[in-house]
Amino acid sequence: MAKVILFGEHSVVYGLPAVAVPLLSLRMAAYVEPAGADAGTLTSLGWSGERADVPDRLAAVARAVDVATAFVGHPDARLHVRTESDFPPQRGLGSSAAAAGAVVRAVLDAYDVDATPQQLFDLTQDAERIAHGNPSGLDALTTASPTPVHFQGGVTTALEMNLQAWIVIADSGVEGSTREAVAEVRRQYEASPERTGVLLDTLGEITTGAVGDLGTGDVAALGEKMTGAHHVLVELGVSDDRLDALTVAALDAGAAGAKLTGGGRGGCVIALTATASDADRVAAALEKAGATATWQYAPHLQEVAP
Ligand code: MEV
Repeated sequence: MAKVILFGEHSVVYGLPAVAVPLLSLRMAAYVEPAGADAGTLTSLGWSGERADVPDRLAAVARAVDVATAFVGHPDARLHVRTESDFPPQRGLGSSAAAAGAVVRAVLDAYDVDATPQQLFDLTQDAERIAHGNPSGLDALTTASPTPVHFQGGVTTALEMNLQAWIVIADSGVEGSTREAVAEVRRQYEASPERTGVLLDTLGEITTGAVGDLGTGDVAALGEKMTGAHHVLVELGVSDDRLDALTVAALDAGAAGAKLTGGGRGGCVIALTATASDADRVAAALEKAGATATWQYAPHLQEVAP
């Protein structure tokens, strides 16, 4: 399924904490069939073709087929593999990890092989590593988790979430590349370690504070931290004009806070509201400001609606 990162994108790659939630009703499914004498095909995330022609952006999904067929003891298996999802790819919603995870599970199912959750995670992470060298694991974990995830340095900790609030997710319509955004932050870190280190640490502190606010359900404080995190992500160079404009539109419409979510440089923003009617108003404002799609997610209901 899809995920949104509430706090901690990018800084999580540097071992700092993050909080992400699965969007349980935005699903990803995978189907596997023997290809017989054919070479095998992949149909996923808006692309379809021969295995040999898979573009870079589908590298993780293709790699998922390889790691899963190796795991089940049929590394030379020729398969037709297809994924289907009801959320767009390359928007910071975790399509790559969700597709890789779904493909791994579908291949294991096809060969009737069981795996532990840790093995499934490791296989998905192996696949994701090809997509951007050093994935934190947050996407692989959250897109397969039934509950919100509090994650740091490869380890999850309990998260108390008493949030009576709505999160509006708005698609900027612009494709983002997590690989490029992560590489950009790495470049900055190497060029100016001190400045970048301070920005990443600030994101870490915001996340730690937000974990407390999620427990007490303090919508105003959480919203402020979201907007604060967005400004830091702007400083890190991973936002863009569309994401900034959508963030402003959400705040102008009365959101308690708003930020980009995921890798950035395209993709989605999230906005927090205290009531369902505020969420409707903010979603309308986001659409007016150019969002190509919006969804609403209520953590206390574990539900997302178009
Ligand atoms: C991408 O959804 C999240 C990033 O923090 C990358 C990662 O965690 O590996 C940008």
